[in-house]
Amino acid sequence: MSVWAKHQIFEKNSIVLLVGILIMVAIGGLVEIAPLFYLKSTIEKTEGVRPYTPLELAGRNIYIREGCYLCHSQMIRPMRDEMERYGHFSLAAESMYDHPFQWGSKRTGPDLARVGGKYSDDWHVAHLMDPRSVVPASIMPGYPFLKETRLNTRDIESHLTVNEVIGVPYTADQVEAASKDILAQAQPDTEAADAFLERYPAAVVRDYDGNPKEVTEMDALVAYLQMLGTTVDFSIYDDKANLR
Ligand code: HEC
Repeated sequence: MSVWAKHQIFEKNSIVLLVGILIMVAIGGLVEIAPLFYLKSTIEKTEGVRPYTPLELAGRNIYIREGCYLCHSQMIRPMRDEMERYGHFSLAAESMYDHPFQWGSKRTGPDLARVGGKYSDDWHVAHLMDPRSVVPASIMPGYPFLKETRLNTRDIESHLTVNEVIGVPYTADQVEAASKDILAQAQPDTEAADAFLERYPAAVVRDYDGNPKEVTEMDALVAYLQMLGTTVDFSIYDDKANLR
């Protein structure tokens, strides 16, 4: 049988062709994907990157629940226009504890990968209550109910456990204290806050929503927004003295 005649078997029988295509795509996929699982350098270890605190994780869950990702991306690409607007391009390590990641593919609003520290807590609260109160031309919807909704702390332990199962290095101590810690991070100058800071030394304790009486969904979401992109200290890399 000539090569041409053999090829006709594929061309004249759609099922054989389909199986042939599947085999070729599988080989291509393996070649591209398999090395990522054993290469050490897929995600470079980066100093400062840490797992979310329970309050930030709860804020992140609200971010996903409300569909913020439908209008906001969280990935700054390594291109000059992006870096001038948003800051240093995103590193793989910065989303290594994100399950699921929030890179997004739609930018109706700006990228949020480095929004942490860009505005005050008050600004975020005002903006989330009614975006037009601080950005008159904004088309972002308001989320005023977040400030009235007491934060659900019941299932945070399970959220930490699930994250731990898929590779986030939460300790048994952190998981056990999750429902205390979720409140502690929004209640400065309390004993619980001190205990919380021992478990998460790099985190910030603050009353994020301006209402010290109650820990609300607003506290959680603002705590999350304020830490986005702040874990890596890029001044180390920009400092010319270090380059010499
Ligand atoms: C319909 C699209 C849309 C949705 C949904 C949306 N946003 Fe926005 N967002 C925008 C637009 C447009 C802007 C720019 C105008 C402004 O600042 O309000 C913006 C701005 C922002 C900013 C300021 C960013 C900066 O660097 O100035 C933050 C923070 C923000 N959004 C957070 C959120 C959060 C959190 C949610 C979910 C609770 C959300 N957004 C949902 C469209 C959206």
